[in-house]
Amino acid sequence: MSSPGSTGVGLGAAVYVILIIVAIVVKVSIVVYVCHKRGQTESNNNVCPDSQFLTLTMDRFLNDMEREKPIRFTSQQLRIATDNFTNLLGSGGFGAVYKGIFSNGTMVAVKVLYGTSDKRIEEQFMAEVGTIGRVHHFNLVRLYGFCFERNLRALVYEYMKNGSLDRFLFGEDKKLGFQQLQDIAVGTAKGIAYLHEECQQRIIHYDIKPGNILLDANFFPKVADFGLAKLCNRDNTHVTMTGGRGTPGYAAPELWMPYPITHKCDVYSFGMLLFEIIGKRRNLDRNLPESQEWFPVWVWKKVETGSVAELMTVCGVEDKDRDTGERMMKTALWCIQHRPESRPSMSIAVKMLQGAMEIPAPPNPFAAFWLESQAPKKNNSTATTWTDTSCDSSMVAGSAVVCASATPVMRKYGIEMASSASASASGS
Ligand SMILES: Nc1ncnc2c1ncn2[C@@H]1O[C@H](COP(=O)(O)OP(=O)(O)OP(=O)(O)O)[C@@H](O)[C@H]1O
Ligand SMILES: [Mg+2]
Repeated sequence: MSSPGSTGVGLGAAVYVILIIVAIVVKVSIVVYVCHKRGQTESNNNVCPDSQFLTLTMDRFLNDMEREKPIRFTSQQLRIATDNFTNLLGSGGFGAVYKGIFSNGTMVAVKVLYGTSDKRIEEQFMAEVGTIGRVHHFNLVRLYGFCFERNLRALVYEYMKNGSLDRFLFGEDKKLGFQQLQDIAVGTAKGIAYLHEECQQRIIHYDIKPGNILLDANFFPKVADFGLAKLCNRDNTHVTMTGGRGTPGYAAPELWMPYPITHKCDVYSFGMLLFEIIGKRRNLDRNLPESQEWFPVWVWKKVETGSVAELMTVCGVEDKDRDTGERMMKTALWCIQHRPESRPSMSIAVKMLQGAMEIPAPPNPFAAFWLESQAPKKNNSTATTWTDTSCDSSMVAGSAVVCASATPVMRKYGIEMASSASASASGS
């Protein structure tokens, strides 16, 4: 028989046990609930709708861009970035250029190249892109990457807000002041000098002209389309009568004559560009009086007869800018010399423009055309040759990038597939 005291103790113990059980049940319920919630969130994250996946991928692309590797994009990625190629910025001899935007807000210009892709030239294409994709200079447009698929061959560039220089020289919008134009001339010259003199492999542009000088939001100039000549066959707008390279009006004589071609053909084209910058007009303008139709010849005649002041007035150069204006004209006349070896190197042209050296009186650049049939050439007319600077002063950095699906060429040029870029970044 149990005593009343022992009954009370038994009851207390039972209540105590029940309380413990209730506490355990509540705790377990909370843990189960939290685990369930966490599981839900994680599984939501694992469900990767296309847009989220692309955001992630694009972010990784851009990280890779910062690490200065050319990226291989898929056509689908470029289609999304350009909204199915809707916003056309312009088109030229190589293809059509579309505005695009990546999901993180980075703007790009996608140049869709004419012609169909050929599997055989894929490696060559990547080798070239790998080279030009690694050339970095403040005055050169950045190439972020490319696409090489059966239905789409495209190059992806940094977007330049103010478009090409021709708009500001020949269009309605002639708002650029003389100082800005001078800065654009110097910046352009520095970009070309870098291609010629500081790249591991000298790069000849072949198509320097206002349409290939792009302006960023601050009107800083960047040379576009370098290296393209090697990637593409040009269409008719670029082919001269003899099937040479360059654009008529800017192309050096040796490009359409059977003479050896060197980087000096870019110096010639730069000279022609310089005339157009000074005159804010096309070099050939048939609407003007005959004496002024061909601007470089008109400039030469004024310089030859000591009428530079008149020339400056016509070009709207103010008194305070006359020295600079004269320097630009003399530099242009040197750059378009008929004989390539009489033209300065681009780094000398930079010095001339900046006033860092005395510019000798330029000889008649048209003597070869004018005098050939009439009189013997003056001996001193093309006697000057310029000491060229060396081309191997700096190497374009190349880091070994190993990615599973890369071909040897891709590895050599550090090209990474967009998909493997994201895979390696996510550690999968
Ligand atoms: N990176 C860029 N950012 C912004 N606009 C661009 C860019 N690249 C090209 N464009 C625009 O697209 C237009 C066409 O360029 P494209 O290079 O195709 O032709 P082009 O320069 O006139 O001739 P070429 O074929 O000789 O280069 C340019 O005039 C420019 O307005
Ligand atoms: Mg161009």
